[in-house]
Amino acid sequence: MLTPEKQYVQWYENQTLRHARWLSESNHGPPARIMIVDDKTTADEAYRLACEGTSLLWRGDFYNAQQLLQALGRRIERTEERAALRKTKKAAKANKRATSEPSTDATVLIPNLFHQQRQTQAQRARILGRLLLELDTDYVSQLRRAPDMSAACIAAFGQLEGAADHSCVLSLRDIQGALGAAQWRAKGVPIDTLGLSIYPHYGVFAPTRHEYVSLLLKAPLPKTCDVAYDIGTGTGLLAIILAKRGVKNVIATDLNPRALACADENFTRLGLSSIALQQVDLFPADAPPANLIVCNPPWLPAKPSSPLEYAVYDANSAMLRGFLQGVRDHLSEHGEIWLILSDLAEHLQLRTREELLGWFAAHELTVKYRLDTKPTHGRSQDDSDPLYAARRAEVTSLWCLTPNKC
Ligand SMILES: C[S@@+](CC[C@H](N)C(=O)[O-])C[C@H]1O[C@@H](n2cnc3c(N)ncnc32)[C@H](O)[C@@H]1O
Repeated sequence: MLTPEKQYVQWYENQTLRHARWLSESNHGPPARIMIVDDKTTADEAYRLACEGTSLLWRGDFYNAQQLLQALGRRIERTEERAALRKTKKAAKANKRATSEPSTDATVLIPNLFHQQRQTQAQRARILGRLLLELDTDYVSQLRRAPDMSAACIAAFGQLEGAADHSCVLSLRDIQGALGAAQWRAKGVPIDTLGLSIYPHYGVFAPTRHEYVSLLLKAPLPKTCDVAYDIGTGTGLLAIILAKRGVKNVIATDLNPRALACADENFTRLGLSSIALQQVDLFPADAPPANLIVCNPPWLPAKPSSPLEYAVYDANSAMLRGFLQGVRDHLSEHGEIWLILSDLAEHLQLRTREELLGWFAAHELTVKYRLDTKPTHGRSQDDSDPLYAARRAEVTSLWCLTPNKC
């Protein structure tokens, strides 16, 4: 989500003070220091400035700006590789000194690796996010060879209004994000098991890894299933499955307004406009008790570093625990809960299985059955990923829970 309050950025150009609306998808504040750069700026110079915290407002050719971003990415990778090598050497030295081998102990290594990777990604995003473009009111760029970005940016960031917003400054990375999302939205994500496509919007969890769909198709519906909720609906995928399986009254919720707009569009495309949508924290208000409540919460207990990450990262498992705490109050008699959850957090040692089972027990929920599937997405096959061992072991489950019998 964009920063709720309008922010402005200013800089000197040709001895004139300029200002523009500041947009940042990562909720970074306006840059304090801006330098004008163009086709003559070398990648090494740009990299040094960006690492020192200077933001770079691009005035050259649009394609050259993209090339520069790639060159910055390569420099960051080289620095990361050198840092990793230094760490490995240090660990090897420590190993030699130590009688036991604490640094190869997986229980220490894996969570450290995860947190290190998050830090590296955040640092990378900060540096790359310092290459900026100025766009006019309709997100039109005056740069040479700039493509038409207007529709993609309006869809992602909304219309700019007001005379004061005669132009805006944002990172080229955010613009590339908007252009990529526009392509997904146009072509859709095919869900073969359902024989349909889902059209994700910018900033909404795109079900590109959707092996859990088979679990939702396999699980037997409760005997009576007139009312079902989909909590955290995203693109609306799970609500669509429930409606397609014949549930008459499906209510889908999400906190993210972009998700609601996206789900609404997907329901309309599929002629399922009877699915109700509510922008609420977890459970719908003024709704009849549900025979079935499904939820696919963000699966990693870590702090999201930008609003775009809210679908994946859930600080302290707050959404998951809130869901388990409140869900019984919204179920009808003989109602069921289908919780979709990857165990990646367990392989990364961010949460234990005992903790999860403990939360079920604390909220008086019994496991009726569990269906499992192995992810097949690209990252689970990528052995160059430092977290490959954890990803390869990942299992996604549908936990069917019911309230304990008194
Ligand atoms: C992993 S995504 C799942 C999206 C979709 N159900 C699916 O399976 O493709 C998690 C979703 O939960 C939403 N969410 C996170 N916290 C929430 C909350 N407290 N209340 C409602 N929705 C929430 C996020 O915006 C996101 O759309």
